Amino acid sequence: MQVHEQKIRLEHKRAVIHSFSPYLATFPDEIPKYVIDRFLPPAALRKNCGGKKLILDPFCGSGTTLVVAAENNVKAIGVDFNPMAVLISNVKCRPFCERDFADAEALLEEISGCLPFSGGRNIDLSVDLDKVKYWFHSKVADDLFTLRDVIIGCRNEKVRNLALVVYAVTLRACSYAKNDTLSRARKTYAIIEASRANAFRDFAGRFEKALTLKRDQKLLVADNMAVEGDSRRLFFDDCLFDCIVTSPPYIASISYSTPFDLFYVFMNQRIEKKGFINGEDKEKFFDGMKQAYNEMFRVLKKDAPCVMVVGEREVKGTIEHMVEAGFVLEEKLFYDIKGGCRGFFHGIKRLKEYVLVFRKP
Ligand SMILES: C[S@@+](CC[C@H](N)C(=O)[O-])C[C@H]1O[C@@H](n2cnc3c(N)ncnc32)[C@H](O)[C@@H]1O
Repeated sequence: MQVHEQKIRLEHKRAVIHSFSPYLATFPDEIPKYVIDRFLPPAALRKNCGGKKLILDPFCGSGTTLVVAAENNVKAIGVDFNPMAVLISNVKCRPFCERDFADAEALLEEISGCLPFSGGRNIDLSVDLDKVKYWFHSKVADDLFTLRDVIIGCRNEKVRNLALVVYAVTLRACSYAKNDTLSRARKTYAIIEASRANAFRDFAGRFEKALTLKRDQKLLVADNMAVEGDSRRLFFDDCLFDCIVTSPPYIASISYSTPFDLFYVFMNQRIEKKGFINGEDKEKFFDGMKQAYNEMFRVLKKDAPCVMVVGEREVKGTIEHMVEAGFVLEEKLFYDIKGGCRGFFHGIKRLKEYVLVFRKP
């Protein structure tokens, strides 16, 4: 069947809740919203049936699908290989109660009592100190270890996780790394001096903002969640999901975990990077994606839609291999990327993205 391309217009909206923790290659809220409005029962019915329809996002990243679903009374589960993506998504999906806000205020108060640059006591000798020295002014690193220990000491899991996500952003802000996530540090004297940030103040400002965003959040479903996993081998039963909406990785050497590498150093965690579907080699990329397409087909109910947002380089291969996996292509929509997307794609300006609507027959 011949499927024509059709242009759609988006305003590229993203809920403010995403702003406390940036993530690479996110998609606009309008994509999961479009899918919910188009393919699931109307909102009034969703309320009555208690959100029994279940969406899967097998490459959930920063949790856009999960948050939009929760705001629209739909249950959703996300999978991502990046442990930080899972942490970030879950922090956004779990509502805070008054007790949580009180515990968060107590944590803020404890941190406001920490004195910057008081020095020398808190270096954790078990972490990779060469990396720490390379990326941080030694006094700042010292404060960051103190900050880490105070956060880890927080007994309220929800508050601790939110604080850890904010801490990862503070780590980057107080390091020699530039904001552009993939460029290396230039350790000029000026940058070293500038990075002598007050880590406690940086964290407190960001954490307060995150708390305000959590307070304003309106989640109609409280238990949407992300789980760590490899979408080439999904651990769900056959025919479980009513709908899939996702934006898979791109044919590009984007490392989704790199912006959090400093966090992993401070947490003394090793990340297995080989499991990411990644790279410039088209064939290798689709070898990985083909396994994911087969898994998506398996876990989706019969007659259910699978909507994927892909770039121009991926569109042909995605259609070919999704059809091989058993899907039927029903619609091929595209939209302009606001201002084009550079940088992470090696200077190649990407101008449009495709929204491919498949169905499991
Ligand atoms: C384009 S991003 C998704 C962004 C997401 N739509 C959002 O708005 O934040 C692709 C995601 O795929 C994840 N990923 C890469 N390889 C994976 C694999 N084998 N299994 C599961 N997730 C993987 C990356 O960690 C990344 O978060």
